[in-house]
Amino acid sequence: MKLAISAFAVLVLVICCVAFAAGADRSHSMKKEIFGAVQGSSVDLYTLTNAHGIEVRATNFGGIIVSLRLPDKNGRMDDVVLGFDKLDGYLDNKAYFGAIVGRYANRIAKACFTLDGVQYQLAANDPPNTLHGGNKGFNKAVWKAEPFENSNGVGLIFTYVSKDGEEGYPGNLNVKVKYTLSDQDELTFDYEATTDKATPVNLTQHTYFNLAGEGRGDILGHELTLNADRFTPVDKTLIPTGELRSVKNTPFDFSKPTKIGARINDKNEQLELGHGYDHNFVVRRTGNSLELAARVHEPQTGRVLEVYTTEPGVQFYSGNFLDGTITGKQGHVYKQHFGFALETQHFPDSPNHPDFPSTILRPGQGYRSQTMFKFLVEK
Ligand code: BGC
Repeated sequence: MKLAISAFAVLVLVICCVAFAAGADRSHSMKKEIFGAVQGSSVDLYTLTNAHGIEVRATNFGGIIVSLRLPDKNGRMDDVVLGFDKLDGYLDNKAYFGAIVGRYANRIAKACFTLDGVQYQLAANDPPNTLHGGNKGFNKAVWKAEPFENSNGVGLIFTYVSKDGEEGYPGNLNVKVKYTLSDQDELTFDYEATTDKATPVNLTQHTYFNLAGEGRGDILGHELTLNADRFTPVDKTLIPTGELRSVKNTPFDFSKPTKIGARINDKNEQLELGHGYDHNFVVRRTGNSLELAARVHEPQTGRVLEVYTTEPGVQFYSGNFLDGTITGKQGHVYKQHFGFALETQHFPDSPNHPDFPSTILRPGQGYRSQTMFKFLVEK
């Protein structure tokens, strides 16, 4: 009898150990497959899954986040980012779906800046300005990718060398962007860069979200909070005028949760210029280096996105230029406001605004920036 009890105890112990080990294995995982090829370079698709089943698929073409599957308040998983099923869709993606944007995210006026007395001419790919790095920005580069896994999550380290003169920018720029999906449901982006000549650098991530699920209508019912008292108003080419304007008593005040669509059609010069929201907000700082910049809640599904950053600004873009000409995943047609982006960044056109926080990186210095997307569910 005694023997039977202890044999039973050993069996229970073995089952527990096996279950624990299996549980540990299930905590997070990483898969790599071939996505296609770009100009002879093979391009891969990585699937990162965390302990709660949150799944990010990303490719080394442009560092693009191809899909992001999140649970809703009932545990239903949906892909909440706009994009394409296949690599082909991304090759000439004018919307920058999911990509790393650089060397200079956002616009530089008249595609021109002067640095240390030298004038640099860039591509006017958003006439008369340059936008998101020019004709072939970092979103179209084939990056080197190195997957990693640690006790807290899984991730990818993307590296790219942007050659001196690429897209008109000075200096060989070594760029490293680390994506980490943690078991605390956070997706963190760590950006680093060094240069051998002074150059402007402004890196961001250009994922478009629809927290109800991509292709499921517009995002005007999403409730947005922005931790910003001021924004940078723009001229008719979407270049900041230089003013830091208070959001008080304007449709730009998102200091309390407000539906994106609540005031988007108000008669307002800035909304007319942007065809909706397409503006940089000045993140209110409370002493944390990683500050909450934005929070978005989708009332039907309960999904919440929080955006934390070390950057001084965040571009809130309400998908104004999506006009139904892009057919994305599963044949979904992306119409106006079907997605929004929160692009953490230095202010647009900083190289031509000495009063804005500087974007100039010099030899011997290190560019460092961190942004974190945190995913939650509100019942
Ligand atoms: C810009 C928009 C632009 C979009 C796609 C956003 O970051 O602010 O003006 O249309 O990217 O290029």
